[in-house]
Amino acid sequence: MKNILVTGGAGFIGSNFINYILNKRDDYFIVNLDKLTYAGNLENLKEVESKKNYTFIKGDIVNSELVNYIFEKYKIKYVINFAAESHVDRSILGSEIFFRTNVIGTNVLLEAAKRFNVERFLQISTDEVYGSLGPTGLFTEKTPVAPNSPYSASKASADMMVQSFNHTYGLPTLITRCSNNYGPLQFPEKLIPLMILNALKDKKLPVYGDGMNVRDWIYVIDHNKAVELVFENGKIGEVYNIGAGNEMPNIEIVKIILKNLNKSEELIQFVKDRPGHDKRYAIDSSKIQNDLKWKPEFNFESAIVNTIEWYLKNKKWWERIVSGEYQNYYNKQYSDRI
Ligand code: NAD
Ligand code: TYD
Repeated sequence: MKNILVTGGAGFIGSNFINYILNKRDDYFIVNLDKLTYAGNLENLKEVESKKNYTFIKGDIVNSELVNYIFEKYKIKYVINFAAESHVDRSILGSEIFFRTNVIGTNVLLEAAKRFNVERFLQISTDEVYGSLGPTGLFTEKTPVAPNSPYSASKASADMMVQSFNHTYGLPTLITRCSNNYGPLQFPEKLIPLMILNALKDKKLPVYGDGMNVRDWIYVIDHNKAVELVFENGKIGEVYNIGAGNEMPNIEIVKIILKNLNKSEELIQFVKDRPGHDKRYAIDSSKIQNDLKWKPEFNFESAIVNTIEWYLKNKKWWERIVSGEYQNYYNKQYSDRI
């Protein structure tokens, strides 16, 4: 049995990971440590909550006393750190919590991992640490880290701390840097679910700037299969980029969503641009494809339809969110821009 501490497992990617992995493997014992911020939701984990090889602890990765207690009590030998503040726009409104969770929190986990001699520490990072690309070229693992937003700066800082623990103490670390994810259970502040829900409610779809910023989209299950492979077979000390080779300008995504929902493009509203908005992200994933034999399995055309259908079928899941405290954030965010 592998005793694994998964942090942030009640969020979008973490909960998809736990649901996927516990369905597949019974040699993993997962302790899910999550603070249940606005982005964490235990409903995401209904299908695994009664499994014997799963337990949930509500808590903060910054709390070193709690983290050390968990390592000791559950004999943790593996860590997969998904926990983070994850939204660029929120980091622009206020950066402190990003530094606290993403940098200090990661440091607390690293210190505990060192103390308890963990066998693998996997840091879930992002392609945003590389900064922004011009019209050509791709991010490789050798691209220098050059983050632009408070979010990406905090993730890059965490990555550097992880690498320093590998270099200095020989902690067996790994880092994955994935591109933009989409799929079921994504909190509707990110582009794709926000646009789906606004379109369903016949609200305006706020597209930043001219809509020509490019992101490289990957279905969340493809990301998580890559995480599993890196966790199992990745070479200690290495960084692995993960991307599905699916670059698209934002406006194109928005139009695809409207078309699928049979809604008019008149709902599109171009709004004031995000400050410091990165122009283009695009990933070269040849290292993980060659070394670990990973490749993406989902194509965008069908996976976006699955995603839209999931939101159509799971109105209860998102209605609670859009009618609650989130609405205040939404109003604040978009009243500044529109
Ligand atoms: P999310 O915001 O949906 O979920 C984050 C989770 O972390 C939530 O459940 C939240 O409650 C928890 N959390 C936050 N602060 C915490 C703390 N101090 N202690 C314990 N738990 C805490 O994020 P996501 O989209 O699922 O992203 C997960 C990870 O993947 C993040 O590290 C993010 O940087 C990275 N990532 C995300 C994307 C993407 O497109 N969403 C792409 C690449 C990498
Ligand atoms: P987002 O989902 O916030 O991810 P990230 O900023 O981490 O890439 O945004 C994806 C792209 O969509 C980004 O270029 C900003 C743009 N965007 C909009 O145009 N309107 C919106 O309301 C949001 C949330 C994002």
